[in-house]
Amino acid sequence: MPQNLFNQKQKLFDLWAPSYDWLLPSVFYQAVHQRLLEYIQLSEHPDVLDLGCGTGRLLRRLAAQFPTLQGTGLDLSPEMLHQAQNRNDCPRLTFVQGNAESLPFAEAQFEAAFSTFSFLHYPHPEQVLSEVSRVLKPSGRFYLVDFTVGALSQQSQVKLPGAIQFYSREARKRLGEAVGLRCYNHYHLLGPVLLTIFEK
Ligand SMILES: C[S@@+](CC[C@H](N)C(=O)[O-])C[C@H]1O[C@@H](n2cnc3c(N)ncnc32)[C@H](O)[C@@H]1O
Repeated sequence: MPQNLFNQKQKLFDLWAPSYDWLLPSVFYQAVHQRLLEYIQLSEHPDVLDLGCGTGRLLRRLAAQFPTLQGTGLDLSPEMLHQAQNRNDCPRLTFVQGNAESLPFAEAQFEAAFSTFSFLHYPHPEQVLSEVSRVLKPSGRFYLVDFTVGALSQQSQVKLPGAIQFYSREARKRLGEAVGLRCYNHYHLLGPVLLTIFEK
């Protein structure tokens, strides 16, 4: 069943990829990326990972903002990666296909990891967080950006059709702490979009 789900998600994003950057949701996502920049702290020579990188917009923005940054984008969808590679003119960025549940990277490889509007698609969030914790260096940070549970809901986790899940602040904190990621803070970026910063 999960493999079936990943195949369905991959097909959906493969179809969306060619027009992804020009559709309204992406315009909103880009405004969120811009806001996210205000909260990022990196060293002089950072090596960062973007999970569910899509067409690579966030990584290109980060590479422009941090001129020595090395970035890796990982995504399930080959078509999203095709778009990312076609639009990328920065040799410091690389894009690889993979599943966030099983990262093809070494232990303690990255100083920071990002996930914008992708975590909601992960059927096993605890497994993804455990992988993020493994590939982060000690004191490394994970910037999780996604829609959060609305003010009207008392639930800590809301499941929507299409295997989409939103998490409250408390649920994010609990999931992170279970795999050794301390919840540093939460910030509202735009509308219902919440940034949670975890530290290893
Ligand atoms: C809505 S897009 C967000 C793209 C980009 N992060 C942004 O901010 O515009 C969600 C992305 O997550 C990817 N994705 C979904 N499930 C994934 C998984 N299990 N592993 C890796 N990527 C995944 C999709 O292929 C898609 O490119």
